[in-house]
Amino acid sequence: MSDTTIKETVREKYGAAAREAQKGNQANCGGGSCGCGSGPDPVTADLYHQSETAGLPEGAVLASLGCGNPTALAELRLGETVLDLGSGGGIDVLLSARRVGPTGKAYGLDMTDDMLALARENQRKAGVSNVEFLKGEIENVPLPDNSVDVIISNCVINLSSDKRKTLKEAFRVLKPGGRFAVSDVVCRGEIPAPVRRSMELWVGCVAGALEENEYRALLAEAGFKDVGVEPTRIYQFEDARAILEGVGLDAEVLAREVTGRVMGAFVRARKPASGG
Ligand SMILES: C[S@@+](CC[C@H](N)C(=O)[O-])C[C@H]1O[C@@H](n2cnc3c(N)ncnc32)[C@H](O)[C@@H]1O
Repeated sequence: MSDTTIKETVREKYGAAAREAQKGNQANCGGGSCGCGSGPDPVTADLYHQSETAGLPEGAVLASLGCGNPTALAELRLGETVLDLGSGGGIDVLLSARRVGPTGKAYGLDMTDDMLALARENQRKAGVSNVEFLKGEIENVPLPDNSVDVIISNCVINLSSDKRKTLKEAFRVLKPGGRFAVSDVVCRGEIPAPVRRSMELWVGCVAGALEENEYRALLAEAGFKDVGVEPTRIYQFEDARAILEGVGLDAEVLAREVTGRVMGAFVRARKPASGG
């Protein structure tokens, strides 16, 4: 699958998801983990406490397509600069902006125009000025070296066609001592080839997921220290079947193979204080 094909598909699917949220509907990306079947989505449902979503624009909540709650797990301090890789409708950027306060800044970075339009509308509705949404790719972050205190992201790095480059870029823009605090879908062990091959599942956040040890290795290769991968939600057989349903795969057989081996995880790491 070429880099261009992945990016085009991602833009198309998440553009459609943003337009749904603009219309007041719950966003889904039409792929595996998003909007699968009838019940609640096993990956994206119930990620935020009501106390967190209270006061956020409805469009930001409806567009939530993450697999974790990185701002709840990340350490964010007043006055810090945060960057959200693949910010979508902006839910985690708006939550970060609250935490870093008016002396801090929260950037969102996304490559999909409709998502950026939705996020900027959500910012306007939230009435916050310490937020900026940037257009660009997480593989080429449009920010200078050593400019960010904390990198967050929610279910996006698994979609990247060049994860090595993405993690190197995260390292570059972090200040020395800066923190990487990301929710992502991660696998334990090998995932069956048919799942990996499915474009729909890629867009649905599963097929592009890194294997846990590979994730650790790529972070270390980029220069990060103190790498940790903590499962926040391990998808079980029924979850996996729901994810596979409707994408032309033998859901029953594959679900048995992937059960318990795909998880929403919180991935943390640190750029050394002296490294640059
Ligand atoms: C699964 S959604 C998650 C959105 C948001 N983080 C959330 O929690 O709701 C993925 C988002 O990442 C964006 N995205 C995917 N790949 C990207 C890339 N390579 N560069 C920039 N944005 C990307 C998509 O446009 C989409 O808005």
